[in-house]
Amino acid sequence: MDFSIKTFDAKSTLNTSKTGCVVVGVFENKKLSVAATALDKKGDISAALKSGDITGKAGSFLVLRNVGDVAAERVLLVGLGNDVEKITEKSFIQATQAAARALSTLAAGDAIFALPDVAGRDTAWTIRTTVLALRESIFRADGMKSKKEVSTTGVKKVALAVTAAEAAAAKVALMQSVAMANGVDLTKDLGNLPPNICTPTFLANSARQIATDYKMGIEVLERKQLQALKMESFLSVTNGSVEPPKFIVLKHMGGKAKDAPTVLVGKGITFDSGGISLKGGLGMDEMKYDMGGAASVLGTMRAIGEMKLKLNVIAVIPSCENMPSGSATRPGDIVTSMSGQTIEILNTDAEGRLILCDALTYVERMKPAVVVDLATLTGACVTALGHHNSGLFTRHDAAHDKLAEELLTAGKDTGDTAWRMPIEEAYNEQLKSNFADMANIGGPAGGSITAACFLERFTKSYTWAHLDIAGTAWKSGAAKGSTGRPVPLLTTFLMNRAD
Ligand code: BES
Ligand code: MN
Ligand code: ZN
Repeated sequence: MDFSIKTFDAKSTLNTSKTGCVVVGVFENKKLSVAATALDKKGDISAALKSGDITGKAGSFLVLRNVGDVAAERVLLVGLGNDVEKITEKSFIQATQAAARALSTLAAGDAIFALPDVAGRDTAWTIRTTVLALRESIFRADGMKSKKEVSTTGVKKVALAVTAAEAAAAKVALMQSVAMANGVDLTKDLGNLPPNICTPTFLANSARQIATDYKMGIEVLERKQLQALKMESFLSVTNGSVEPPKFIVLKHMGGKAKDAPTVLVGKGITFDSGGISLKGGLGMDEMKYDMGGAASVLGTMRAIGEMKLKLNVIAVIPSCENMPSGSATRPGDIVTSMSGQTIEILNTDAEGRLILCDALTYVERMKPAVVVDLATLTGACVTALGHHNSGLFTRHDAAHDKLAEELLTAGKDTGDTAWRMPIEEAYNEQLKSNFADMANIGGPAGGSITAACFLERFTKSYTWAHLDIAGTAWKSGAAKGSTGRPVPLLTTFLMNRAD
């Protein structure tokens, strides 16, 4: 889908634009947006509203043809709710989703979107939300199907209408929004790929491709180097697998050479069988998504590479498989992490923290400004927060409150929301081991919190946040598939840090 910005001196000239379809907003109680009024020269739109064919409720829509004094072949009316003065974010998103659905079935090849801004949001928000919704609607996970679904209908070119005063900023916002959508798509594609194809080696090659395409630095550490670094905790997870582990370091140095980097660490378990603490069979295929943290980091790197973000960002991805075998790690095994702290592995299915803790120790050498790790870490986080919010964990002091606020705001701005959870000394009790410095599980109570407390012990020397994305990275059931989250949150977080 091709996007562009179209400038209008006033939305009142919208009616002379030749296009397959022009999209405008209408409201409940038969009210028209400014753009809809501009197309209502002969009263056709008012008449459609009066007829009751469209209510104006958010998500309602109606296609009109042969609208008087309008050059566009079609006018797509979309409902924006009941308040002309205060359009809500939710109504706007529902309206763009409805528009996407309608446009996918029309014979029109191109369209102009002339929807009003939402209360409290600027045109950049309108553009990003529209682009993300339209790209979401055309995404297909058919890479592995021998016959692709080819749709004969659907809009290919979309112009977003703005005023002359907004045009320059709108063009930048559009470029950034398309980059973000491309990052989301990469994350979805990597997540949806089967675990026999998307191996640690495949992830490393994807990172190499991003490095080539966007002129980034890349380093992939192999088993020997990981042994030399004493990453025994990470390596213990690889013991049962024949797939070689990869430790990926991808560097986007868009900022000043001296500026401390923002470091993103992504969990890259390409399949989590649970290991010797084997998972149940039902739905085990979904553990191919256990590299969702890694995929979101790579998608975000692609996005910031494409938008040439002026910020130093380093992605670090420990990647391996968690498999059972005669050589696999046993419950009861004790390993020494790279930090020197020893860990009693009471459950081999709590493997995410075992690979992340060594990565979190490794990144100390980068003297990071902040570190954010992303992981499909615990089923307990899904129980706590469901599928709406990612779980956000940080220490509770001024520097970390500020980081938490940055992440929460980036989430709210993009609808890719997170919810803050506690990290407290009291929970640390649960990680006690009789034989090592700590156990790798803290029992069933507060499972997402004890997992975060485990990670926290490896992050003492810098400012750090952890996002548990177990509930948000993919969908199950009929809609099974990667969501591309939290790429919008992360990309926006980095964009705000670059400003
Ligand atoms: N990858 C899983 C977490 C997960 C489970 C994400 C279900 C999404 C859905 C993780 O490695 C895991 O297995 N965690 C265990 C931890 C437990 C053994 C302490 C869990 O959540 O059950
Ligand atoms: Mn597991
Ligand atoms: Zn896992």
